[in-house]
Formats: sequence, structure tokens, C-alpha cells
Amino acid sequence: MAAVKGLVLSGGKGTRLRPITHTGAKQLVPIANKPVLFYGLEALVEAGIEEIGIVVGDTGDEIRQAVGDGSRFGARVEYIPQLEPLGLAHAVQVARSFLAGEPFVMYLGDNFITGGIGEVVRRFATDQPDALILLKRMPEPERFGVAELKDGRVVRLEEKPPHPLSDLVLVGVYCFQPSIMEAVDAISPSARGELEITDAIQWQIDRGLRVEAHEVLGRWIDTGKMDDLLECNRVVLDLLEERRLGTVSEDSRLMGKVIIEEGAEIIGSTIRGPVIVGAHTRVVDSFVGPFTALYHHVVVEGSEIEHAIVLENTVIRGVRKIEDSLIGRDVVIERGSTLPRAHKMMLGDHSRVSLA
Ligand code: DAU
Repeated sequence: MAAVKGLVLSGGKGTRLRPITHTGAKQLVPIANKPVLFYGLEALVEAGIEEIGIVVGDTGDEIRQAVGDGSRFGARVEYIPQLEPLGLAHAVQVARSFLAGEPFVMYLGDNFITGGIGEVVRRFATDQPDALILLKRMPEPERFGVAELKDGRVVRLEEKPPHPLSDLVLVGVYCFQPSIMEAVDAISPSARGELEITDAIQWQIDRGLRVEAHEVLGRWIDTGKMDDLLECNRVVLDLLEERRLGTVSEDSRLMGKVIIEEGAEIIGSTIRGPVIVGAHTRVVDSFVGPFTALYHHVVVEGSEIEHAIVLENTVIRGVRKIEDSLIGRDVVIERGSTLPRAHKMMLGDHSRVSLA
């Protein structure tokens, strides 16, 4: 079999993560201070896949800037523009010349899997089925593509069915032979107006092509929604190794696993891990509780925060207490000093605020 290529999907709309995705790509939201997309790229390279095409849409410039030519991942990356997010099967169509009739692994850029994909890529290369899909038993299968198996064979796939026939959902990693091209060209748009990869694989099943399934035993998270991002952040923080590169004042207390990146400063504060404090972030007279990731150049002063992701350049001052939150870049949250004592805000469209 020819060398397997990687096709990473990083276009799309990101409507479920607004307002964060009004200004940025959902695939670049950091999980434990690393963009979720990077975990996928690392998983592909670890599985021996070095030639990677990234499908990009409106946020293409940002993705290009973050990933570059791929050399820092040990990969050669090519960008494939998709003018409109017309579906996962459409993304395969636009990648036709990059794929050049070779087998490939398609990886959805906002998906996260623990344990890598080495085993599944090896199985794909050895058995050479037309398609090898990854499945996982999940609550709320109606949020995903759902598979029905009979005697271990995939017999039916449905995209977000209102009444799922099983709890086995399609994980956002797929291995394909070039025969998938005929299928993506044959199908029509779904009710949501997209060319669904699920329908393309069903087309292959209907014509007797070999579609096999591999059950994922590790953790899998589709980070398309805030709660899923926070969950993913918890999982990764638990797996990280402790590192202390920044400075910690003597009157600060660090408990549990705390990662302090370069140039970060902890002054007069208590941090209860697992927590990551990003490069050049300052935590002053504050409490930072478990499962929090503060990205780079953040300031937390006279505040308490727990179970949260805070993006770059945000300032939180004099606030008790922030919990279960995803806070974007360049945000300012502070206690006002003028009367009347009221909540004064300037919030972007689709913001969510829950006051105590
Ligand atoms: O996450 C797993 C699920 O992914 C599967 O269970 C479903 O069967 C599959 O259809 C897909 O469902 P979603 O509706 O969650 O896909 P989403 O629109 O979020 O797109 C997934 C990724 O692909 C995301 O990083 C954006 C990118 N994308 C999406 C579309 C529609 C593109 O690059 N181009 C596109 O046209």
C-alpha cells in the first residue's frame, strides 16, 4: 500500500462555540494551553503520517500562522482552501489533488483522542479495507453519526438520527482507500445541506465495499461545545507532567500538580492543581483552583478562579469567584469602583453570563 497521507479538517463554522469563534478558529482553542488541533497533528505524526493536508476555511490565515509548514511537528503540511463549509465529504472532494489517489486518514481538527491512532493506522495498512471507521459508545448518540453493527460488521450509518439505533458513535477519525472518492461524488446534500461523510460511507456499504470498525477504548472528546472543552482540559491536565519554569514568591502555596510556564509569576497566591499557568501570566493575591488553564499573558489579581479556561491577554481583577467558565482573549473582568454598584458590561454577541 502507498504511504498513508493525513487530511485534517479545520474549516467549518464553529457556531456552537460563539462568541469565541467570532474571532478565532475553534480548532485553535487551547486545551491545557495547546491548541486542540496540535494534538491531532501530533497523533498523525506519531502514527507515521508525515504528509498532511489541512482543509481551511474563513479562519485559514490563523491556522496557517499557528501550524506553519508543519516542520515543528515533524510533518510536511499543505493547506487546502474550502471556500464554503459544505460538509466533510465536500472537504474530501476539495482535497482530491492533494490526496492524488492515495490512502489517507481523515482527522477532524476539533476532535481529541487519548492513546493515539497508531494501532488503527497499522490495522488499516495491514487489512486494507475500503474504509476503517472509529467508534465509541457514548451517551446522547443523537449528537453524532451513529453506527449499527451486525456480527461485527458495519451495516448502517446515520448522521445525528433523532432515534439512534445504537450508542456506537462515529469518532472524528476515518481511514480511507482512494475508493472513497467515487462515494463522495455520488451522494447528495443532507437535510442540513451538507455532503455528509457518513452518507458516503453508507453508499460504500450499500455497494458491498469493505467497511470495518475499530472501537476506541481511550477517551474521545469532540470539543465543539464549552462543556466538552472543559472536560477535555480536565483530561489533559491530569495527564501532564509537572514543570516549573516561572517564578513563585515565598508567600505563595502550590498544591498538587501545577505547571508554570516560562516568564509566569505567582505572587502571594494559592494554586491547587491540576493547573497550568501560561507564559508571562501573572497571578497575584489570588486563588486558582483545580482544572484551570490560564493561557499566556493573562493577569489574575485579587480573584478566585476554578475549573476554567482563560485565553491570552485577559485580565481578571477583584472577582470572587469564577467557575466552570471559558473566557476569551483580551477580555477584562474587574470589580468597578464607582457607584452605583451595578454589573456593567460590554459583551459580544452570543455571550453567556451567569451572575451569583
Ligand atoms: O465529532 C464527530 C462527529 O463529526 C461525527 O460523529 C459525525 O458523524 C460527523 O458528521 C461530524 O459531525 P459534526 O457536525 O460535529 O461536524 P462539524 O461540523 O463540527 O465539523 C467537524 C470538523 O470538520 C470541524 O473541525 C470543522 C471541520 N469542517 C466541517 C465542515 C462541515 C470542515 O473543515 N469543512 C466542512 O465543510
